[in-house]
Amino acid sequence: MKLAERFFKVFFWSISHLKDVAFGLENAMYAKRGTDYANSWNYRNDVEPATETNEYVKDNRLKTYFDANTEGHGLFKFYHYFDAYDRHFSKFVGKEVHVVEVGVWSGGSLKMWQSYFGDKCKVYGVDIQDACKAYENENVKIFIGDQENREFWKDFKKKVPRVDILIDDGGHLAEQQIATLEEMLPHISPGGVYLCEDVSGSRMKLTSYMNGIENEFNWIENFSSDHIDSKATPFQQQIDSIHQYPYIFVIEKRSEPVNQLIAPQHGTIWAPVYDPKKNAGG
Ligand SMILES: C[S@@+](CC[C@H](N)C(=O)[O-])C[C@H]1O[C@@H](n2cnc3c(N)ncnc32)[C@H](O)[C@@H]1O
Repeated sequence: MKLAERFFKVFFWSISHLKDVAFGLENAMYAKRGTDYANSWNYRNDVEPATETNEYVKDNRLKTYFDANTEGHGLFKFYHYFDAYDRHFSKFVGKEVHVVEVGVWSGGSLKMWQSYFGDKCKVYGVDIQDACKAYENENVKIFIGDQENREFWKDFKKKVPRVDILIDDGGHLAEQQIATLEEMLPHISPGGVYLCEDVSGSRMKLTSYMNGIENEFNWIENFSSDHIDSKATPFQQQIDSIHQYPYIFVIEKRSEPVNQLIAPQHGTIWAPVYDPKKNAGG
C-alpha cells in the first residue's frame, strides 16, 4: 500500500473511531514505557559472553532430531523454538494429530513433525510455491496458495475438517499472519494450539494486534470487593491461554468451553481491605 493511501486509511479510520483512537494512544504510551523499561536492562556481568551454543535449550526429541538432520531436506529453526514446541505440543505425541504448517520451503520441517508426533500424525503443508507439491506423500498433503487469501483458507477448511495444531512459518508479514489466524483459529479443535513464528520482522503490527487480542482476553465484569463472577466473553469461552517467547506467539484453545470466570473468597479470617485514601501519607 502506498504511503498516501495508508495515511488516508488511518485518517478516515481515526475519524470514525475517536474513542478507540484515544484508547489506542494511551495504549501506545504504555507500550512505549514498556519498551523503554525493557531497553533499560543491563547485561549481567557474572556470565560469560555469548558463544555459538545450543546449550541454552534443554534437550528434547525435536532438538535431537534437528541436530541429527545435517543432510537431506533443509530445516531452519531457532533453537529455542524446540522448547516452546515441546511445551505446547507434547500432549499430542503418539496420538492421531492433524498438523498444519504454513511455509514448507525445503520440506525438512514436515519430516520433523512426522518423526516427533509418530505414525498417526497427518501433516498438511501450505506454501505459495508450486514446487513444494513434491513433498506430498501418504501422510503429508501439500496445499498451494497464498496465506493472505481468505478464500484459500475457506477452501482449505472444507478439505481439512480437522486441525489440532497450526504452525505459521510462512511469509512472516503481519497481514498474512492476521488472515491466517483469523481464518484458522476458530477452526482449530478444542485443546488445539496455534503457533506463529518469526514475528520479529512484522513486530510492531503483529505485536499490536496481539496486544488488542490480549486486552479483550482480560475483560472482566461484576468486580466487587468480596466476589468476582465474570461472564466469559465468546473468546474467553474457547481460549485457554496466550504465550509469548522471543519471536513466537502461541494460543492454546480450551478442551472444554468455560462460561464464567469466578473468584470467590475462601476463609474466615480477613485483614481490613487497604484503603488508599485512609492510608495516604501514613
Ligand atoms: C521460512 S520458510 C519455511 C521454513 C520451513 N517451515 C522450515 O522450518 O524449514 C517460508 C516459506 O513460506 C513460503 N511463503 C512465503 N509467502 C507465502 C504466502 N504468502 N503464503 C504461503 N506461503 C508463503 C515461502 O515460499 C517459503 O517456502
